[in-house]
Amino acid sequence: MRKNNLEAILIKIFEKFGLKRSHSKICSDALINAELVGAHSHGLSRLKMYCDRIEKKAINAKPKIKIKKISPSISHIDADNSIGFVAADIAIKKAIDNAKKTGIGLVAVKNSGHYGLSGYYAEQAVKKNLITMIYTNAPPAVAPHGALKSLFGTNPICFGTPTGSKVPFILDTSISMINRGKIRVAARNNQKIPKGVALDKFGNPTIDAKKALEGVQLPIAGFRGSGLAWMVDILSGVLTGGNHAGKVKDPFNDFSGPQNIGHLFITFKANLFQKNYNQRIKDNIKTIKKLPKIKGVKEIMYPGQSKFKRFKENSKKEINISEIIKNDLEILNS
Ligand SMILES: NC(=O)c1ccc[n+]([C@@H]2O[C@H](COP(=O)([O-])OP(=O)(O)OC[C@H]3O[C@@H](n4cnc5c(N)ncnc54)[C@H](O)[C@@H]3O)[C@@H](O)[C@H]2O)c1
Repeated sequence: MRKNNLEAILIKIFEKFGLKRSHSKICSDALINAELVGAHSHGLSRLKMYCDRIEKKAINAKPKIKIKKISPSISHIDADNSIGFVAADIAIKKAIDNAKKTGIGLVAVKNSGHYGLSGYYAEQAVKKNLITMIYTNAPPAVAPHGALKSLFGTNPICFGTPTGSKVPFILDTSISMINRGKIRVAARNNQKIPKGVALDKFGNPTIDAKKALEGVQLPIAGFRGSGLAWMVDILSGVLTGGNHAGKVKDPFNDFSGPQNIGHLFITFKANLFQKNYNQRIKDNIKTIKKLPKIKGVKEIMYPGQSKFKRFKENSKKEINISEIIKNDLEILNS
């Protein structure tokens, strides 16, 4: 489907579910971006879930979002249980403004929802020559190291920096072996998941996506990944006023109320300490890329490089829509 056609359909759907046009456009842009970067687990596969949550009032279609100025650098946003895309869009723009004015922007968000890909917001800051760090928590999926029960989300950690070239450095990674969205997509399509990423509810390793969703996802690097997940829960939940310690509701199967997810956006000027930051990072990347490579590796890539390439290539083509998603679009649009 052509991007413009998809955009028109998505805006119409979100407006039908009660979002105002500007908010509908923000949601549509974020979902289309996810498809274009190949993150299908965070794109159209979630549209029905967002609409169901709006319909069941677990997402507030008409939020009164409040931005409290704590200092010229620091802002606190109460998103009033808006859809996460809208809260995050406002927050990153505020963090960019604060950093442009003062050198650094720190924006905390509470009462938000699932906002998709952290990297999408990081790219906006990097385009303005800012370094950024972004955190969000998510519903229980990963057991803290030593615990029998999931409590941490797949809590992504995101760091972005300008590179002195068009291609930004965006490290945007879940703290779980694979992101939960990929397991959900596999479950929906009756596909297997890789070995070593999840345990079933009895604690046995599984490659069955449905059993993995009922069980526990494994963190990256054992207790280290568990520690990183905990850090994200503190920064995006405890610090901001969002839910934390396993209280974020699962967006797909708990409609009993809003998620009250928290996010934290940190942005700062890349040339704060060294005026020639862009040249320095260019040199840094060049040195690393010139290292001898192991067999089978053509190029040492930096985080975000492949995604940038995928986005450019996919932007030239029509967007591929699966039969399941076509069905969702038809039902939601009727
Ligand atoms: N909102 C939420 O609650 C939530 C939760 C979890 C994940 N997510 C999002 O899901 C997305 C996917 O997460 P993921 O963990 O599956 O990411 P991933 O495993 O696809 O990639 C992780 C990072 O590794 C980098 N990378 C990949 N291959 C590389 C290579 N060959 N060389 C160098 N770097 C490489 C990527 O650029 C990326 O920065 C992220 O955008 C994340 O923000 C969102």
